[in-house]
Amino acid sequence: MRFKKASGRVELAEGTRNPAFRDADGDEPAAEHSAGREDHSARTEDPSAGREDGVAAVVEPEAAVAVVGDEYSQVRPYAGMPKEVLLRYSSQARYRVPREILFWLTVCCTLALVAVTVTVVAVSPRCLSWWQASPVYQVYPRSFKDSDGDGIGDLKGIVEKLDHFLYLNIKSVWISPFYRSPMRDFGYDVEDFRDIDPIFGTMADFENLLAEMHQRGLKLIMDFIPNHTSDRHRWFNLSRTRDPHYEDYYVWADCNSTSPKPNNWVRTVSVFGNSSWTYDEVRGQCYLHQFLKEQPDLNFRNPDVRQEIIDLIRFWLDKGVDGFRMDAVKHILEAEHLRDEPQVYPDRPPESVTTEWDLHHDYTYTQLGLHDLLREFRAEMDAYSREPGRYRYRGPRGRVAMWPAGVPNGRKLGVRNIMVCVWLGRFMVTESYDYHEVEKTMMYYGTRLIKESDFPFNFYLLDLPHNKSGAWAKHLVDLWMANMPLGKWPNWVVGNHDRSRIASSAGPTYVRAINMMLLTLPGTPTTYYGEEIGMENINVTESQIQDPAGKYNASASRDPERSPMQWNDDMNAGFNNKTNVTWLPVHPDYESVNVEVQKADGGSVLSQYRSLSSLRQTALPFLRGWFCYVHADANVFSYVRELDGHRAAYLILLNFGTQSAATDLSSVQELPDQLEVVAATNPVRDGNTVQKSSILTEAGEGLVMQYSTYTRFHPKHPAECFVSEKACLLETIGILYKC
Ligand code: GLC
Ligand code: MG
Repeated sequence: MRFKKASGRVELAEGTRNPAFRDADGDEPAAEHSAGREDHSARTEDPSAGREDGVAAVVEPEAAVAVVGDEYSQVRPYAGMPKEVLLRYSSQARYRVPREILFWLTVCCTLALVAVTVTVVAVSPRCLSWWQASPVYQVYPRSFKDSDGDGIGDLKGIVEKLDHFLYLNIKSVWISPFYRSPMRDFGYDVEDFRDIDPIFGTMADFENLLAEMHQRGLKLIMDFIPNHTSDRHRWFNLSRTRDPHYEDYYVWADCNSTSPKPNNWVRTVSVFGNSSWTYDEVRGQCYLHQFLKEQPDLNFRNPDVRQEIIDLIRFWLDKGVDGFRMDAVKHILEAEHLRDEPQVYPDRPPESVTTEWDLHHDYTYTQLGLHDLLREFRAEMDAYSREPGRYRYRGPRGRVAMWPAGVPNGRKLGVRNIMVCVWLGRFMVTESYDYHEVEKTMMYYGTRLIKESDFPFNFYLLDLPHNKSGAWAKHLVDLWMANMPLGKWPNWVVGNHDRSRIASSAGPTYVRAINMMLLTLPGTPTTYYGEEIGMENINVTESQIQDPAGKYNASASRDPERSPMQWNDDMNAGFNNKTNVTWLPVHPDYESVNVEVQKADGGSVLSQYRSLSSLRQTALPFLRGWFCYVHADANVFSYVRELDGHRAAYLILLNFGTQSAATDLSSVQELPDQLEVVAATNPVRDGNTVQKSSILTEAGEGLVMQYSTYTRFHPKHPAECFVSEKACLLETIGILYKC
């Protein structure tokens, strides 16, 4: 404390005087001195002025002026000095000039910072969403991991295996239905959309699963079934008893018990039976069901039904789920007039109409209004994506964070990784098999202005086994690429719970090449559980059949592709070890085809899957680059992945034929003469150098080759190339920009 108070006056302590200051003071204009004084004398009328403690300091006005004029003129300013004095010093050039310089510097820096931020935002390409940055992994919960030993997989079992996804560099996990269900269609017949089936666990187990997933940076995609419920659903019971509110929740039509057919409509999966109408004794009418008779179709013409479905979507979004796979969407609406659908072969008798393929589904599939409805669902998800504080992503180690693609958990972020930022919106994928009407499938992308699904599932690659050739693979890939609306994001499915496993239908020879293609094509790959280790279908005897579709028609059973996941070579392949029961038999090849054995083998299907998914995530050309066809023939399919400004580019060559091939790409000028193999289905070839004039591959073999050049393939071959959103890399500083 440098002031001391004596006999009611403020005085300066010895040692605060600064004789040197007197000179500087002399520079000041007289006007400023007097102004300072006036101000000072005015303020001294307030007895407590200048004191924070509120105790009145007795300063006589005249004396104060004298103090300012004489004694203070000799001291340096310092904290605690009365304001009047400080003001006087502050107007001196030696203080004023630096102050002004500092002020303008701050203004300029702020403006520069704003300008840089605006420029970076303006030139940066859009962030990738999490569902773009990672493959989607499908878990069929009955078959993934059984924690309680009842022979059926469950939610706690999934929690036990979450590290498997991290091991595979997978962040997005879609889990097939686990709602309360009588299990006539193993969960696709929902009895209560707000509850978990006891077979799978409890709501607490679900919440724990979700928290554990988010804790690890994993996203959970739920299956959602808007088209139908179980016939045990409360709504159906109220509808068949004509409760006034629920009467029209389902599609009812007059019919009689002997000929229950209001029209000729047949079930979609006609292996479930023929007519899509069943007579209900309680109500004395027929109800529509495009799937099993235990799965009555909801009536979406009823606004209350729409509202119920929206409420359910909100219910799960509120819980924090990250996205939905919308089941069987094309069936959601039917024509109200209920007219017969036209027969594919009009001359045949009406009784011959027994399967889905016998009719043109003009009145039951993709009806007007369907897309409006899906866009309503979408809008719900977007509302939840935007709401601040409601949807936060828990990064690795529980931190709330953006998860930059290309950064495996815990690694340091580089500038480049930050540029591959990840957008945290909620996700919607639609399921619709519109096989011969690709333009119908593409409708689910929405338009440039109105968003619908992030992508509709692309099932074309399920047909790979039909014709073993490179040209066929290219044709299937091109079916999607050539028809996808501009700027949209592709995706690829090679297996699911409804279709034979690709390792069985294509043969184990091709499994590695198929995974290689899946992970190097542009867009999001989907991997059905077990595909990462090359699991095959099981043989199911008639007495072992579980799938209701198989009970109608054994050859249509979907049990073969639903066998327990093969974790290790212990009892039941590690699917469960508390009992010897498993709901479907374990595949006999489990001793060699399992996660544990393949982890230990650097050349296994699993190890290759893992390194390719990591390459996909870390090498920018795969995530954001161009995709160009280079070559396709009876054996080989070859394409390039490249990014402008990125020196490293990749040539992928896959032999889907039945013979070995020597592919000559010497006419492709953009490729250098030599290329380095960075991933190979045959581990012997890893690291090899190959000549572009003769690239040798065996049937089922695939190579990812890297080369370095700034010469790009796409400018000269625009018709062969696709990109969802153009981006270029400024390699020197590692920044991506729109170009
Ligand atoms: C979807 C499911 C299938 C189910 C059907 C009825 O196609 O993938 O498993 O049987 O919908 O819900
Ligand atoms: Mg269980």
